[in-house]
Amino acid sequence: MNKLIVGNLKSNMMMEEVGNYIYKLNASIETDNEVVICPSLVHIPFFINENYKIGAQDVSIYESGAYTGEVSAEQLKSCNVSYVIVGHDERRRFLKENDEIANKKVKQCLENGLAPIICIGETKEEKIMMQTESAIRRHLLDVLMDIDKEIMDNIVVAYEPIWSIGTGIVPTAGEIDEIALFIKDIVKSAYKIDIRVIYGGSIDSHNIDKFIKAENIDGFLMGSSSYNPIEFAKIINKI
Ligand code: PGA
Repeated sequence: MNKLIVGNLKSNMMMEEVGNYIYKLNASIETDNEVVICPSLVHIPFFINENYKIGAQDVSIYESGAYTGEVSAEQLKSCNVSYVIVGHDERRRFLKENDEIANKKVKQCLENGLAPIICIGETKEEKIMMQTESAIRRHLLDVLMDIDKEIMDNIVVAYEPIWSIGTGIVPTAGEIDEIALFIKDIVKSAYKIDIRVIYGGSIDSHNIDKFIKAENIDGFLMGSSSYNPIEFAKIINKI
């Protein structure tokens, strides 16, 4: 099955760097997999391209209208955005977002034809206390609460252990595979649908080989490894 490869560029790059990034990425990518680039909002129009799809790093909980500073799901859709990262740990940590807010964002995405990439993962403390599965189950069911299952098959879950994001520390392929299956089973038994589960956290061109063959991992979400277009394309081409 085709993998989903997502690059989260976060708040990186100045306008004068964007052209060079796109040029280098386009010149180096060679893949049949589905690639999604999530640039800073202000750069999205420059990234529209047949080589990959576009994702946003966030979306408003509100519909279009009088919400100063917010960008609605409908507006993202009109800019050729296909995916939206929802509930990323950095938004939870720095902007105090929680599962309730993520739930509203997922609803906005699904009602407007965007596929949410829902980020969930356990903290280091939860891992040490062997609470990984209970933490994941809780986040997942809270983020998906009261969502109409008819429109749900578009969702993607990104398993991102918080202790792995930006730290260089990764779980084993076996651990990720097990959690990916666990997530799929929860969604299958609660909503009777099959979803894609991708992994994110410190993926790079050296460790990617270990994870590619894991049966239940449907793709990868990369932060730092996507900042350099040549390095990012190298990983994409390996997958
Ligand atoms: P990282 O980030 O690849 O730099 O660990 C992952 C993420 O932020 O989703």
